[in-house]
Amino acid sequence: MSHVSSSFLQQLNWVQNQMPRTRNALTAFRALPKTRIAICTHLDIKMIPVFEGLLNAGCELFITTCDPNTVRDEVVAYLVSKGAEADAWHGMSEAQWRASLQKAIAWQPSFICEFGGELTALYHQQPGQGLIAAMEGTGSGVAKLKKLDLQTPVLNWDDLDAKEGLHNRHMVGLTAWQAFCQRTHLTLHEKQVTLLGYGLVGQGVAAAARAYGGCVTVVERDPARRLMAAYDGWRVAELESVLSTTDVLVSATGAVGVVGRQEIEQLKDGAFVMNVGHGSGEIRTQELADITPTEVMPFVFDYPVNDRHVYLLANGAMFNLTAGFGDSLNAFDVTLAIMAGGLHCLLTEADKLPAGLHLLPDNAWKPWLA
Ligand SMILES: NC(=O)c1ccc[n+]([C@@H]2O[C@H](COP(=O)([O-])OP(=O)(O)OC[C@H]3O[C@@H](n4cnc5c(N)ncnc54)[C@H](O)[C@@H]3O)[C@@H](O)[C@H]2O)c1
Repeated sequence: MSHVSSSFLQQLNWVQNQMPRTRNALTAFRALPKTRIAICTHLDIKMIPVFEGLLNAGCELFITTCDPNTVRDEVVAYLVSKGAEADAWHGMSEAQWRASLQKAIAWQPSFICEFGGELTALYHQQPGQGLIAAMEGTGSGVAKLKKLDLQTPVLNWDDLDAKEGLHNRHMVGLTAWQAFCQRTHLTLHEKQVTLLGYGLVGQGVAAAARAYGGCVTVVERDPARRLMAAYDGWRVAELESVLSTTDVLVSATGAVGVVGRQEIEQLKDGAFVMNVGHGSGEIRTQELADITPTEVMPFVFDYPVNDRHVYLLANGAMFNLTAGFGDSLNAFDVTLAIMAGGLHCLLTEADKLPAGLHLLPDNAWKPWLA
């Protein structure tokens, strides 16, 4: 277990000072003793204010993660020092991660707060252990939960305009390319960027790529979104036809296994592959298992394929948060204030809702955005 350094505490102080909306939203938390909440999110320093707010209100937390690549060990250590139970560390194996999800369910939470739907889905394989309600904050998670016969209410706060429209649309693209430039020491000038997926994340990735100098082609499987991309002024193509001229292939689909060895082998020498979708499963890295990559720069993994070099960024993990800082603090303050409002609604009102997915009601979060 890593310890909490004084520089971490200084950084946390800075983070908290930059989040006035979240601070304000947390004032709604009254005493909630012995309320058991399982958390399965990214464990970045920016998440601390809301989890610490729950601990301060007397809640009991079990903390695991939706992605071992984005865990900051000092964040876990800090939350444990404040009374949380945790089973998460940076770089845990798939088996260790799956075991930690099992432990979170065996801990018998009354509530789940998560990104990615894993805990709620797992609970539904063995329901009946007293879960009252859950909340979900990602498109991938919402898509997963829509396929389940939910036995509890689940608050969906991903589909809120203010969450998707700011975080997904503006922050991911900007911060992914910022991390790309910092990690590779390159900009996108003279580079062909091929973007898979034109949801709000993809739209932001395309716009920011142009701002960083790139020439963007969109690949979309949904004909309506393909048209939107075309009307937004992007070149639209089939993936196979552009692979050999692609300098940076970006995956922003929320789907599993959209890029595999077959696609990677067709990329030009020196091409990059970057994932910004929720799960590292967007890239079928298991198909590259026979190649020993070299980390030529931090988070830049060189995979020699067919006499060429392809650079898999962060080994396929969500790049903006694994190799970069993720959202700016001011933007994340909005997201976290919505999440705090959502948690308050989850803990105090969700038990009155019928089982199934519910969009987080306006009165739970809008007051905190003023
Ligand atoms: N990196 C981050 O910080 C961050 C932040 C928010 C959301 N996300 C994640 O990013 C992903 C995308 O989010 P979104 O809100 O844009 O989702 P979305 O579902 O609105 O858009 C995804 C698009 O990808 C398309 N698509 C799916 N499979 C495809 C394929 N094989 N080829 C081409 N297109 C394909 C879909 O048709 C859809 O239009 C999700 O996994 C979401 O959880 C990441």
